[in-house]
Amino acid sequence: MGMECYVIKGGNPLAGEVEIAGAKNAALPIISAAIMSDESVTLENLPDVNDINVLLDAVAGIGAHVERIDRHTVKINGSTIQDCCVEYDLIKKIRASYYLLGALLGKYNNAAVPLPGGCNIGSRPIDQHLKGFKAIGVNVSIEHGTIFAKCDHMRGAHIFMDVVSVGATINIMMAASRAVGKTIIENAAKEPHVVDVANFLNSMGADIKGAGTDVIRINGVRSFHGCSYAIVPDMIEAGTFMIAAAATKGDIVVKNVIPKHMEAVSAKLTEIGCEVDEFDDSIRVVAARRLSRTHVKTQPYPGFPTDMQPQMTTLLALSTGTSIVTESIFENRFKYVDELARMGASIKVEGNTAIIDGIEGFTGARISSPDLRAGAALVIAGLQAEGVTVIEDIAYILRGYENFDGKLRSLGAEIKKVESEREIEKFTFAII
Ligand code: UD1
Repeated sequence: MGMECYVIKGGNPLAGEVEIAGAKNAALPIISAAIMSDESVTLENLPDVNDINVLLDAVAGIGAHVERIDRHTVKINGSTIQDCCVEYDLIKKIRASYYLLGALLGKYNNAAVPLPGGCNIGSRPIDQHLKGFKAIGVNVSIEHGTIFAKCDHMRGAHIFMDVVSVGATINIMMAASRAVGKTIIENAAKEPHVVDVANFLNSMGADIKGAGTDVIRINGVRSFHGCSYAIVPDMIEAGTFMIAAAATKGDIVVKNVIPKHMEAVSAKLTEIGCEVDEFDDSIRVVAARRLSRTHVKTQPYPGFPTDMQPQMTTLLALSTGTSIVTESIFENRFKYVDELARMGASIKVEGNTAIIDGIEGFTGARISSPDLRAGAALVIAGLQAEGVTVIEDIAYILRGYENFDGKLRSLGAEIKKVESEREIEKFTFAII
C-alpha cells in the first residue's frame, strides 16, 4: 500500500474542546504577499499543513529568506529574491501558487508561474485573475503551461469582476497595491480571508479600503515595510468540527474562532435542531438527538461556503426526511457521494444538486478521499458509522487540516493514521 490512511472505529459522540488553527486559505496569499517587502515579515498562527509547507519551500526556492521560529511562526524576508520564475516541481501540488503571480508582479512588475494544480473539484479557470492584471497594464501570456506576466509599470484601473472570485480578488489586490494610482475592484469577493489579506497588506504599508464589501479601493504605494501579523482563524476547520459534533450527537466547544464568520453554518445547524451557543471567540455545539432536514445552497460569503458543502451533505444524509443541497460554485463537487453510498447513504445527484434521503446511520466501509473537504466529510461519516471505516488517499486531507486525527482523538474519537494493511488489521483487532 505505502500510502497513508485513516482507520476509524465509529460511534463515539465527540465531546470536549478543540483549538482551531489559522486559516490555510488566508495564510497562502499572505505568505505570498510577504515577499513583497524587502524588510522582515513575521507571520504567526500559520497552520502546520502540507499546502503551507510546500508554499514556504517555493518562496525559499525563488530566493526569499524563510526562517522557522516555531511550528506556527515563520519569518520571511523577500530582499534576497533573485528570480521571478517559480519552478513547476515546487508548486504543482498547490493551486494557490497563483498568488505568487500577484505578489511578484506587485513587487517586480514581472512574474512567471506555472498554471496551478490543486483539488479537482471543477474546471477552475483563472480568466478573472488575468483580466484584472491586464486592466492594470500587465502583458499576460500562457506558454508551455506557464503564465508569464510583465509590464513596465502598473497603473490603477476600474475593474468589474464577472464572477465573484476569492482568488482573483486577492491576486488583483496584491498587484494593484503597488500600481501607480487608484484601483477599484467591483463585485469583489467578501470572504474573511480577503479581509485578512487586505489587513496584512495594510500592515506592510498598503492603502486598501473596503475589503469585506463588494467594492475594494486601492491606492498604490511605492514600497512596503516589515510587520508582524497573526493569521485569522480557519472558519472551514471550525465548521468541520462543528458538523462532526452534530453528526456524532456530540457536545463540543470549538475555540479560537470568530463566531461572525461561522454564521451561515451556525444558522443551518440551529435550523435542523442543534444547539449552537456563541461566545467571544468560541462556539459550543450540542446535538442531543437526530437532526431534521433542510435545503442548502452554496454561495459566496456570507452565504453557505462551498468548502462546507460535503460535510453538510454528510450530516443531512443522517437527518430525518429529504434534503436538497445545491452546489453553485464548483461543478464537480459531489464525487464523494459514491463513497458515502458505500456506507449506506441514500443520495441522488443530478447536475449540481444532491437529493438526500436521510438514513439512521452509516456502516463502516473502505473508501477513498477524492479531495480535501470531501475527505473531511468522509472522516465525519466514519466517526458516526457502525464498525470500522478505512479512508484511503488522505494526502488531500493533510493538505488542509492540522493534526486532524489528533484533534479528533482528543474529543474522544477512535481514529488512527496508518501506513500499512498490517496496521489496519491491528487497529481492527484491537477494538473487537
Ligand atoms: C478559494 C478557496 C477554495 C474555495 C473557493 C470558494 C483557496 C486556496 N481556495 O478558491 O477552497 O472553495 O475559494 O470559496 O483559497 N472563477 C472563474 N474565473 C476565475 C476565477 C474563478 O470563473 O478567474 C469561478 C470558479 O470556477 C468558481 C468561482 O469563480 O466557480 C469561485 O472561485 P474562486 O472564488 O476563485 O475560488 P478559488 O479562489 O479558486
